[in-house]
Amino acid sequence: MIIDWYPGHMKKAREQIIKKLPTIDVVIEVLDARLPVSSANPLLTRLRGTKPCIKVLNKSDLADPAVTGEWVRCFEKQQGVRALPLIAKDHRDAGRLLKLCRTLVPTRGGKGERYLQVMVIGIPNVGKSTLINTLTGKKVARVGDKPAVTTCQQLIDLHNGILLSDTPGLLWPMLEDQQGACRLAASGAIGDNAFDTDSVALATLSYLSDRYPALLLKRYNLPDLPASPTATLAEIGRRRGCLVSGGEVDRHRAAELFLRELRAGLLGGISLERPGDPPESNAPSAARADDAEV
Ligand code: G4P
Repeated sequence: MIIDWYPGHMKKAREQIIKKLPTIDVVIEVLDARLPVSSANPLLTRLRGTKPCIKVLNKSDLADPAVTGEWVRCFEKQQGVRALPLIAKDHRDAGRLLKLCRTLVPTRGGKGERYLQVMVIGIPNVGKSTLINTLTGKKVARVGDKPAVTTCQQLIDLHNGILLSDTPGLLWPMLEDQQGACRLAASGAIGDNAFDTDSVALATLSYLSDRYPALLLKRYNLPDLPASPTATLAEIGRRRGCLVSGGEVDRHRAAELFLRELRAGLLGGISLERPGDPPESNAPSAARADDAEV
C-alpha cells in the first residue's frame, strides 16, 4: 500500500487546522456515510476539544439508510456532537446543515451578534469541496470590508450571519489500519494505483456476501451465492464478459468493474461499517491516532 501522506505534509495540515480553530464556533467534520470510522481521523476529536462539532455523513445516497441512522444515534451520544446525513450537492441538505450550526451556537449569527464562524474539515475525497460549493452557491463573497472581520480574509460570508472558511481543513486518512484502508479503497477515497484492486474487491465481496447477499444476487443476476469471494468474482466476470482469449475470466477486469459499480451505487445503498462491528475491524486504535500526530 502506498501512503501519500508523508510526515511534513501531515504536520503542515495539522498546524493549519490548529491555527484556524480558535476563531471557529462550529467544526463541520465531513465523513463518508458508508465508512464513518475509517474516513475519520481521530486527531480531530483531540484538536477540537469541547468545540461543537457536526459530523456530516456525506454521500448518504450511496450508504444503507438504516445503518446511517444507527451511526447518527451512535455519534450523537458523544458530547457536543450532532450528526447529519447528507448529499453534498443538495441545497436543501446544505440549508439543514446551516440551521443545525445555528442551533448549536444560538448566541452567534443573529442581528447585532458576532458572526457564526464554521469550518469544514475532513480527509481527501469525502466531499468537502462539493459541500463548500453548495454552501456558498452563487452568494460567495469574500469578507474583508466589514470592521468585525477584517482579520478573517479567508472567510466567505454566506449572508445569513454565518462565515465559512473558504478552504477546508485537510486531514490524512488512517492508512496504517489495513482493514480501514481496504474500506477506504473500496469507497474510492484512495487513488486506484495505491492498492491492489483484486484484493480490495475480494475483501469487499466477502463483506457483501455476509451483509448484503441479496444486493449481490440482484445486481449480478446470480441464482445463489458462490462458495467463496474468489468464485463470486469469477462469476461476475463471466456474466459481464470480462474474459481473456480462451474464455477464462479476467479477474482484474472483473474486480475493476465490481468496484466501479459499487462506488457508483449501482448495487444499492451499502454501508461498509456499522456501529457494533468489532473494534479491530472498525476503528483505527488510539495508538495509531497518536502515531499520526507528528
Ligand atoms: P474533497 O474535497 O473532500 O476531496 O471531495 P470532493 O468534494 O472533491 O468530492 C470527491 C468526490 O465525491 C467527487 O466525485 C464528488 O462529486 C463526490 N461526492 C461528493 N459528495 C457526494 C455525495 O454526497 N454523493 C455522491 N454520490 N458523491 C459525492 P468525483 O467523481 O471525484 O468528481 P466529479 O466527477 O463528481 O466532479
